[in-house]
Amino acid sequence: MIILGIETSCDETAISVVEARGGFKRPKFMVLSHVVSSQVKLHAPYGGVYPTLAKREHIKNLPIVLKRALKQAKLNLPKIDAIAVTRGPGLEPALWTGITFAKDLAKKYKKPLLGINHMEGHIASVLLNGGSTKHEIRNTKGFRFPALALLVSGGHTELVVIRDFMKYKIIGETRDDAAGEAFDKVARLLGLPYPGGPHLSKLARKGVRDRYPLPRPMINSKNYDFSFSGLKTAVLYFLRDNPGVNKADIASSFEQAVIDVLVSKTIRAVKEYGVKSVILAGGVANNTELRKQLGVAVKEFSPLSTFYFPLSTYTSDNASMIAVAGYFHALKNKFIKSPSKLKAEGNLKLK
Ligand code: KG4
Ligand code: ZN
Repeated sequence: MIILGIETSCDETAISVVEARGGFKRPKFMVLSHVVSSQVKLHAPYGGVYPTLAKREHIKNLPIVLKRALKQAKLNLPKIDAIAVTRGPGLEPALWTGITFAKDLAKKYKKPLLGINHMEGHIASVLLNGGSTKHEIRNTKGFRFPALALLVSGGHTELVVIRDFMKYKIIGETRDDAAGEAFDKVARLLGLPYPGGPHLSKLARKGVRDRYPLPRPMINSKNYDFSFSGLKTAVLYFLRDNPGVNKADIASSFEQAVIDVLVSKTIRAVKEYGVKSVILAGGVANNTELRKQLGVAVKEFSPLSTFYFPLSTYTSDNASMIAVAGYFHALKNKFIKSPSKLKAEGNLKLK
């Protein structure tokens, strides 16, 4: 099955063509093309994503990105079996551009449509983890259930129990800032460029971990929820009261505080739910230290479970992950019955 994936939930215009086979048990994917056009530079002066600007750019970029994706995949639209597009969560004006574009293509070429939850896409991204080059067939073991996903991005921090494909239960989420958002805000306090997450983690490598005592918000709470805004405020006050402090040490100490909370809650859920697969996904999964420390903890506390994380190409927003999730929707025959049923849902939740 050849699936065209379309993603426009935030500031990346992305289209991929993915060939999928093997069913639920042995899914295999070949990424025939993977095109991501980032608007990051345009939004940087605003220190965040500016929705109307994002919308305008997506509309301008979509036809260009499609052309590149088809050229890279060496095929044309009639060869596509289905079109999978992100329906939410995200910025609604941005989501609509991808959805409208997908609907037009579906109508013109008489192709079935699939509406995908962006977070489900991030979960699916970890299945693109075999092979060695970008476009070769990727063999994966598929997931063993129950699985647990720690989803960490600029907009979300969620712990999700997955009983089976497409059966999700959010057991915990952030009450204020998302993990990526906290990274970005603290990076800004440290004078790093937007989006600051990657810059902060790079700086943190030169610092002394735990040099400064920062709080681990909610680490001992009985639930699986998170809160990161207090941690950001703690950094703000610390910098105010200690001018001239070593920024790399602050970056390191902050990063470690976030990781401690994420790892501790994830491991507690791993034990409680007896999970067999632990999935780390979303933009913050790019953080090497988080990946390393969570991997070590899973091995120590749940040695029989498998730890999945995405290759860097598939970590931040992209359309290959949307196509992969689309494959599972297609296997379950979850095609959109009527185009009017497919709408942008800014607050769409996994369920
Ligand atoms: O999933 P994503 O690309 O977009 C959203 O759906 O939000 O995630 C982007 C977020 C940003 O907040 C970015 O700063 C953060 O992921 N991020 C990182 C790293 N790389 C990206 N945060 C910490 N360490 C990193 N290495
Ligand atoms: Zn994302």
